[in-house]
Amino acid sequence: MTLRLSNLHAGYGRIEVCREIAMTLADGEFLAVLGPNGAGKSTLLGAIAGSVNGRGQIELNGVRLDHMNARARARHGLALVPEGRRNLFSPLTVHENLQLGLRLLAAAERPRMLEELMAMFPILGSRRAQLSGLLSGGEQQMLALAVALARRPSVLLLDEPSQGLAPLVLQNLAAQIGSLRKLGVSVLLAEQNHRFAAQLCDRYVVLSSGELSGGGGGEELQDADRVASALMSA
Ligand SMILES: Nc1ncnc2c1ncn2[C@@H]1O[C@H](COP(=O)(O)OP(=O)(O)OP(=O)(O)O)[C@@H](O)[C@H]1O
Ligand SMILES: [Mg+2]
Repeated sequence: MTLRLSNLHAGYGRIEVCREIAMTLADGEFLAVLGPNGAGKSTLLGAIAGSVNGRGQIELNGVRLDHMNARARARHGLALVPEGRRNLFSPLTVHENLQLGLRLLAAAERPRMLEELMAMFPILGSRRAQLSGLLSGGEQQMLALAVALARRPSVLLLDEPSQGLAPLVLQNLAAQIGSLRKLGVSVLLAEQNHRFAAQLCDRYVVLSSGELSGGGGGEELQDADRVASALMSA
């Protein structure tokens, strides 16, 4: 077992957005949280990462994280790639953004990790001196992924990586995210695009008005029409 949520509630001030969330993400599992606009996907991922207020239990590899701040949760192995690649600093170069991502690692480990990331995302090597704000949307998403992976997370929380990307770019991104399986990392992927999620994930859950309402896996996830109707009836 990697990540376990029980009776998790999350929201903003007095507004409760997510209610009674219970789910488990196994070691190396890729799980999609599907839901329409405003369903609470980003709120849920933020509550897990510690950037949105929540109450309830969040356990990672047997350690309770819910009383920790976002930085401590990151040290314990969680990494969030927020919606709109907001973990990037656009006036900084690709290399500088990666250096920020590497800060949680011991100084001696950083050069090797940087090399690993360059091997995983060759496009970033050829753009290392470029301002990240000037990268294409697809390149920015690669960089956002690389910055999050720089901390060697055990769980990656990916918030709508497909947003605003052209179909061809999406294919490339799906291949890159799929290749993370060999790292053994577990992935919680929040998406509206169920076809994109189906290419990557082992199973899915549906988030509807802040509550989980069913899901499925395997062949069922590959049946795009069935998933779409589950989403529409959510
Ligand atoms: N900072 C905030 N303050 C108050 N309410 C918020 C805030 N952020 C989001 N909300 C509200 O919480 C609800 C869920 O929003 P959230 O962004 O989690 O949905 P989502 O599923 O990620 O949607 P999308 O697919 O559009 O990204 C919405 O009603 C939204 O208006
Ligand atoms: Mg969102």
